[in-house]
Amino acid sequence: MVNAAIPKLLVGVLTTLNANLAQNVTNGASEWGTLSAQKFSKFLTNNPLPDGYPWSTLTATNADPYTQAPVTGVVRHYDWTISRKTLAPDGVERPMIVVNGAFPGPTIEANWGDWIEVTVTNGLEDEGTSLHWHGLLQTETPWFDGVPGVQQCPIAPGSTFTYRFRADLYGTSWWHSHYSAQYSSGVLGPMIIHGPNHLKETEDYDIDLGPVLLTDWYHRAYFDIVEDVMGTDINSIIAAGSSENNLINGKMNFNCSNTNLPCTEGAGISKFEFTTGKKHRLRLINAGSEGQQKFSIDEHSLTVIARDFVPVEPYTLNMVSLGIGQRLDVIVEATGSSGSSYFMRSTIETNCTRSSQPYALAAVYYPDANQTALPNSTPQPDTRPDCTKPDYPLESTVPIYKITPAETPDLTYEIELSLAQNSSGNWVWFMSGSSFRVNFNEPVLILANKGNTSFPSNWNVYNSGNATNVRVILKNLFTVGHPMHFHGHNMFELASGTGTWDGTITNPENPPRRDTHMIPGSGYYVFQYVADNPGVWPFHCHIAWHVSGGLYVNLMEHPDKIAQNMKIPQIMHQTCRDWAAFSNTTVIDQIDSGL
Ligand code: C2O
Repeated sequence: MVNAAIPKLLVGVLTTLNANLAQNVTNGASEWGTLSAQKFSKFLTNNPLPDGYPWSTLTATNADPYTQAPVTGVVRHYDWTISRKTLAPDGVERPMIVVNGAFPGPTIEANWGDWIEVTVTNGLEDEGTSLHWHGLLQTETPWFDGVPGVQQCPIAPGSTFTYRFRADLYGTSWWHSHYSAQYSSGVLGPMIIHGPNHLKETEDYDIDLGPVLLTDWYHRAYFDIVEDVMGTDINSIIAAGSSENNLINGKMNFNCSNTNLPCTEGAGISKFEFTTGKKHRLRLINAGSEGQQKFSIDEHSLTVIARDFVPVEPYTLNMVSLGIGQRLDVIVEATGSSGSSYFMRSTIETNCTRSSQPYALAAVYYPDANQTALPNSTPQPDTRPDCTKPDYPLESTVPIYKITPAETPDLTYEIELSLAQNSSGNWVWFMSGSSFRVNFNEPVLILANKGNTSFPSNWNVYNSGNATNVRVILKNLFTVGHPMHFHGHNMFELASGTGTWDGTITNPENPPRRDTHMIPGSGYYVFQYVADNPGVWPFHCHIAWHVSGGLYVNLMEHPDKIAQNMKIPQIMHQTCRDWAAFSNTTVIDQIDSGL
């Protein structure tokens, strides 16, 4: 890590400048959604670079993205403090939990192959925390995946913990707290990793406008919502899951007559700038708590170039949908003329989700447009199917880097997903009859490293031993869809649909891959993965209230290698001692699964 000192310094300076420039009352220190928000270049150059690209001669087609990340020798360092703060993203004041006083939180930006180092101080006086880097493989550092009770103990109040992991895939993602539903109170932000470009010259973009975070929005703190979600009264459970608003990059207006909370009318919507004739890259991220989003820009079309961290053959639609945790990188050609303006819209899919205000708006301004006036533009027709079907047919989704999964897996799991009351009358989710609950004090990975692999049944650990190709057939016995996310891997999406799987595989030569898949209501999702990443990897519904309710399993692979070869750093053990000391003197109010 010879070059580490220089980028560390530069990143530090840039972070401080941003925080001082953007003091917005509604979103704290966040600059997202303002016209002064940062734009992105094709890769970071603030480090000593060899000639050419930071990834040298690697391309999207000549390098296996899962095993061939370049060694850049660069470290990107961030210093974060998590604390409580009252903010009003949509004008309604609510208690939030945020990183460095900002919602959405700070951006992680790196080149493919860089190391990312995030020093996190838990400034909450009475609860733990833990941060997850959504979509990364963590092949070299499986203990830094950030799931409390699975790979680490929660970071105790007042403690500091440094995550250090590689930018081992490239594209668009986000980071978020994985401690209970804490992220839904605001602990989340974008993550951008620059890598090889797979676009032809005629398809390529000119301007990278960066992240577009879509978040369904609640006016209550996450803990209050989880208390209701975990209840015995089905009506209050449903009401608790209903969002009050929908935000784009942390902003939206709210009609104050619809709340008793302190509220300022006209908090304002996010603003973007388009340049006529140029192609703009937008990085769409559904970072919400429950609702699937349907995204569009009035009178413009969207060309999808990547799904999650997987570059794909470009396809063009006028509207796309994203389940929680999913990302789509889109290119938008600016066909408007100067002086014009258009609405960007994102709407919560309401066949599966409840929301009293599902419509998020932002404004796109062309040069010379009045940037204080609202656009007057024509919405796209709603062409997206509801939550029971994929937004774009799986069979038409072609990854740029072709991989053919093994025809016959070594091991197949069948898991049934259902909702039912547990013995205390609470409505919870079951995975093949077992509702998940974590033990914060005993991370599964650390136990497995000590050679212990017999776990309580409600830890839902599936041990695949030394199997290499693992298939999962997930059956959804419930009527609504779920965004199923898998850590540590991309999944081959072999098949997905309503009813029962007939054994057909989508594009068996090169099936689509991603890290989060929407399983249809009353349907199935069949995926496969290469178990080449010794560790304990969560597979769960990314709806915050569902993972709280136990819709979660751990897929553990190569326990022998975890026990024999894995050198877990001392800090992981120290973090457990600090957590034990805290939890010995303070009652941990774990009212949900813990995740
Ligand atoms: Cu983005 Cu286990 O989550």
